[in-house]
Amino acid sequence: MECDATELLAIAVSVARPAAELAREMRVSGVGDVTTKSTETDVVTAADQAVERQVRDALAAARPFDQVLGEEFGDAPRPGGRHGLRGDGASQGADGRSAVRWILDPIDGTVNYLYGLRPYAVSLAAEIDGEVVAGVVIDAATGEEWTATKGGGAFAAGRRLSGSGQQRLSQALVGTGFAYTSARRAHQAQVLAGLLMHIRDIRRFGSAAVDLCYVADGRLDAFYEKGLNAWDHAAGGLVAREAGVLVSGSGGAPAGPDLVVAAPPGLHEQLLGYLERLDAAGGP
Ligand code: IPD
Ligand code: CA
Repeated sequence: MECDATELLAIAVSVARPAAELAREMRVSGVGDVTTKSTETDVVTAADQAVERQVRDALAAARPFDQVLGEEFGDAPRPGGRHGLRGDGASQGADGRSAVRWILDPIDGTVNYLYGLRPYAVSLAAEIDGEVVAGVVIDAATGEEWTATKGGGAFAAGRRLSGSGQQRLSQALVGTGFAYTSARRAHQAQVLAGLLMHIRDIRRFGSAAVDLCYVADGRLDAFYEKGLNAWDHAAGGLVAREAGVLVSGSGGAPAGPDLVVAAPPGLHEQLLGYLERLDAAGGP
């Protein structure tokens, strides 16, 4: 079994489309059981879990020996699977493990989903040896789809994406998001208060994966958030990068839990400068 970015993207798209359809259908028939995770505002619905199960089953059928990291069920080996070991050689590392890992957010924008708002999205990325090489984000509410392969560009509805090209921070429409813990939110509010007078305006759409795709297609000029997990930004981050957008963390670090900043090359340094002075990557 070859592990080539284009092929992995084709699998990702073929798995993510029915997953988005399942999420949408479950929304139409009403959000059922709702429980909470890290805090009482961090919700998980029956659909989050059903979509993740469906994607895991589809990936296991297509590529049984790959690893999967998903928001709802973590990175545990598939029950009855072969613990990530594969026998065909093409994608194996020296230790015999598959070099491919899938990173899944079954519903990014769960609070929107709960309230019947958009966007909410299935986000699925494929890594080879720890590097994201393919990704798809589908806004299940609208059917909009963004895809990218490493070095192959980012696309939506057959259009190649190239970001907004905005160069003036004072004219920039900037997306962001907030954590589920009140201590981190207090810090995020201070950072936002310090930034707001220097930009055109702020948007909080409720799905980091879609925010990053909006930066890729120019609907937002830039995006930043502290506290994101890999499943929130793996696919959307690749879409943004492949659209020519710079995606980084703070102080030369790669994008990660401390900070994700995505902005076109003419804007990135200005935005990151403000965020670093405001200690956006700091706090709880
Ligand atoms: C959340 C969304 C939101 C972001 C939060 C994420 P979830 O993911 O991406 O926009 O601000 O930090 O946790 O909980 O809807 O999967
Ligand atoms: Ca998420």
